[in-house]
Amino acid sequence: MSETTALLNIGSLVTNDPALGDGALGIITDAAIVMQDRRVSWVGRSADVDPTTTVIDLEGRAVLPGFVDSHAHLMFAGDRADEFAARMSGEAYAAGGIRRTVTATRAATDEHLAANLRRLAAELRRSGVTTFETKSGYGLTTIDEARALGIARSVTDETTYLGAHVVPAEFEGRPDDYVALVAGDMLDSCAPNAKWIDVFCDRGAFDVDQARTVLLAGIAAGLAPRLHANQLQHGGGVQLAVELDAASADHCTHLDDRDIEALAASNTVATLLPGAEFSTRSPYPDARRLLDAGATIALATDCNPGSSYTTSMSLMIALAVREMHMTPDEAVWSATRGGAKALRRSDIGRLSPGSRADILSLNAPSHIHLAYRPGVDLIDRVWQSPLTPKVAA
Ligand code: NIG
Ligand code: FE
Repeated sequence: MSETTALLNIGSLVTNDPALGDGALGIITDAAIVMQDRRVSWVGRSADVDPTTTVIDLEGRAVLPGFVDSHAHLMFAGDRADEFAARMSGEAYAAGGIRRTVTATRAATDEHLAANLRRLAAELRRSGVTTFETKSGYGLTTIDEARALGIARSVTDETTYLGAHVVPAEFEGRPDDYVALVAGDMLDSCAPNAKWIDVFCDRGAFDVDQARTVLLAGIAAGLAPRLHANQLQHGGGVQLAVELDAASADHCTHLDDRDIEALAASNTVATLLPGAEFSTRSPYPDARRLLDAGATIALATDCNPGSSYTTSMSLMIALAVREMHMTPDEAVWSATRGGAKALRRSDIGRLSPGSRADILSLNAPSHIHLAYRPGVDLIDRVWQSPLTPKVAA
């Protein structure tokens, strides 16, 4: 018989299903969850739980879906602490720093890259993340991009081919030759271990036409598009993401009214990455304008060694609330259900019958404490269902 576990005496449960409880977060107080076969089989009032095999008493703690970190760059070696320190002394952030990590990543062994990935994945889990996406993008040769994705695929289903991160030094002055490689042989080698394709479409990286070429090639190879857009300056990235029905347009720091209208009318999630603005001391994206227009927002860490070296979704929530004027409810939704939508997943980011039993309990009575107690580790326990079976590489 399969094991059934009940989590009892949950002070405040975020289900993210408005049909199950109060408000957009579907909050149930004095709640319980029953899990069976790594799925949620029942949610409701603690007093109404049927007798079950195993009972865990949450003693009034808050419970929410595990965080979904829908944007991270974990396949790298080395760090750029010196660059961060220089920035904090007044230097500007530029896309070119990526090439330093490319040099270190190419020189690293497979074992080193895998160990660094496992270290960051463990950090994510300790900070309450139960699903994370990771990109390639620091190899930028066919062999180095393919090995990054092969290693990444062993720890997450959400892998993204980002061969078009920047033009590597050996292609200096020949960006179109590099785009042809990314959309050709490199794609062929990377597609078997990737679900998504992404391009850094911005100043110092790739323009809209180059991004379109790469994304269309990826789509033809069976990958689904997402796009780094409008981080460093205003450009056509968001419009391209919407045109191609990308799951997500990421960063969205520089948007005009047309971009906001286009996102609001689309299925493309605006993924905001406040760790990047925090760590590059840049203006934050205008989350309120997006929300008021009806756009869907995801919050993610953007964990990478250059612009946002953090695995803390709690910090993203605190920044979104304090600096981007999201309410605590909106920020928690965007860090869970919003992230799931940015990955086009309906089995995660919510706690209702049939969803995966990816669950987070807090050493706090409500989810509001994630923003109310910034910088405090409130993660109590994390339940995470295993990866789905691997596709053949
Ligand atoms: O999301 N924007 C492009 N890529 C990363 C930065 C990577 C780096 O600086 O190494 C980002 O911020
Ligand atoms: Fe990024």
